[in-house]
Amino acid sequence: MTASELRKMYVNFFEEKGHKVIASASLLPENDPTVLFTTAGMHPLVPYLLGESHPKGRRLTAVQKCLRTVDIDEVGDDTHLTFFEMMGNWSLGDYFKKESISMSYDFLTNVLNIPIERIAVTIFEGDLTVPRDTESETIWKDKGLKQSQIYCYGREENWWGPAGQTGPCGPDTEIFYDMGKPKCSEHCGPACKCGKYVEIWNNVFMQFKKEVDGSFTELQQKNVDTGMGLERILTILNGKKNVYDTELFIPVMTRLDCILGELNAIMPLRDKRIICDHIRAASFILGDPQKISPSNTEQGYILRRLIRRMIRLFKKSGINQNYLCDLAEVLIHQYKDVYSELAHNERFILEQLKKESDLFLKTLDLGLKKADQYMGEINEDTILSGELAFKLYDTYGFPIEFTCELAQEKGCSVDMESFREKFTEHQNKSRKGSEEKFKGGLADHSIKTARLHTATHLLNAALSKVLGDEISQRGSNITPERLRFDFSFHRKVTPEELEEVERIVNEAIHRKIEISMKEMKLEEAYGVGAVGVFTNKYEETVKVYFIPGYSVEICGGPHAGNTGDLGSFKIMKEEASSAGVRRIKAILKEGIHEF
Ligand code: ALA
Repeated sequence: MTASELRKMYVNFFEEKGHKVIASASLLPENDPTVLFTTAGMHPLVPYLLGESHPKGRRLTAVQKCLRTVDIDEVGDDTHLTFFEMMGNWSLGDYFKKESISMSYDFLTNVLNIPIERIAVTIFEGDLTVPRDTESETIWKDKGLKQSQIYCYGREENWWGPAGQTGPCGPDTEIFYDMGKPKCSEHCGPACKCGKYVEIWNNVFMQFKKEVDGSFTELQQKNVDTGMGLERILTILNGKKNVYDTELFIPVMTRLDCILGELNAIMPLRDKRIICDHIRAASFILGDPQKISPSNTEQGYILRRLIRRMIRLFKKSGINQNYLCDLAEVLIHQYKDVYSELAHNERFILEQLKKESDLFLKTLDLGLKKADQYMGEINEDTILSGELAFKLYDTYGFPIEFTCELAQEKGCSVDMESFREKFTEHQNKSRKGSEEKFKGGLADHSIKTARLHTATHLLNAALSKVLGDEISQRGSNITPERLRFDFSFHRKVTPEELEEVERIVNEAIHRKIEISMKEMKLEEAYGVGAVGVFTNKYEETVKVYFIPGYSVEICGGPHAGNTGDLGSFKIMKEEASSAGVRRIKAILKEGIHEF
């Protein structure tokens, strides 16, 4: 079975069961304050899981591009990947456990023809606040699973989310494929890492919302959020032992083998796999319409880490040249029919890979020498000080994770605490922000973010008024503290222009305008003059937010009810974001702006 057949089979199956297909959202979540990347199919659906109505209804399905860095150290084994595709189906207050499990079972056994004996499932065993999920257990038994195929675990294994500190979450039932090898011990089960059981699908019963104070409140609607890793299921269906032996990786692996030539035998298999994984992830990040470049902050930093790690792995095997573009070309060609953004942004992907690799190759040799020297000197206590690790970061561009990896190879470790201290000392606040973001996870779609979201629409409209209609949104990111808005524009915005933009936004706030929303077909939305980049098909229904006299914009929401709720608007910074793109950071303050 091919990946494209599998994608089709999945969405067709759920379409037949009344689900509407939604397109993959960006890999870089918009208006989501606390995540760097889309890590699961549910991210773009958070407002709807919390109760907003979705224009396409209550049953949805999609194949979503995802990127996770939490498993990055395991990449190179048989199943873990940085970038992956997640096939999912969602019930927004529609069906619940019975139908969800039944549909999953039906798809696995009747469509994919997986024998029932090969399936093992886990369910939530219950704790003081939420009881054991006997309902799911009974449903699985009704499907014909034996008790020996059903395992119970606690929150560690069978509770999903929130993806951050707050948001939708709940108990889940996970579905595993039994690879058929003997149990490694009498305790062996799906939670065991011996490789007997491979997780293929997760059905989350999102019934709760975790609040800022750590408490759980019951959601008004009971949702289902499921996710199946495309690469893993493809591996299993084709009788392969690892994801790299599937058609998704064979072309890039073959290209890498050609590049390596005689050095093929020198490069460890794990390093080859890491390169194939990282080049795919880097190509998808660079291929995203938001055009992220390698940098020292946020998504750009992850991108930099991936690229620099690949360069170092080549170097380790004695290759000093930059072959990343050759590998990326293979992937762009392979994926362009499914993810056309890769073809649209091919030039940007290749340019950036080359630029970043060339830049790093300039300092890599010197840096590696220094690292050798530092690590040679610390044999005594085998801990590299934060100061030296910081020096490698600051002077030679070694991402800290990369230094940790080098240290590990030499049997040392890095004093991370003192590294962080050094880091903070140098006041790289944005990088720190990004670390917090990792911990933070999913968006807090609070009143504050909704207000900033409305302010973003007003800002977008005011910028068009002041700078001309040719400006267009290139990215937006909101935290509860500030908004960040990227737009295409060829020069610096003057202080006078910024003042005028600020004045227009505050004028709209002062007028206390009611904000309304209407659902309509995309074509109709453009007909009423709505702005907004929307990549889906024309017949789709979208939400259009109206701020009369100022803005009409296609958007998922949520928004403030009235512009008067916004307080006062202040632009904090205007700067270049990348070539031809400007970035504005702005805040809302309590209290009315004085005219
Ligand atoms: N959101 C769930 C997961 O990522 C389906 O496992």
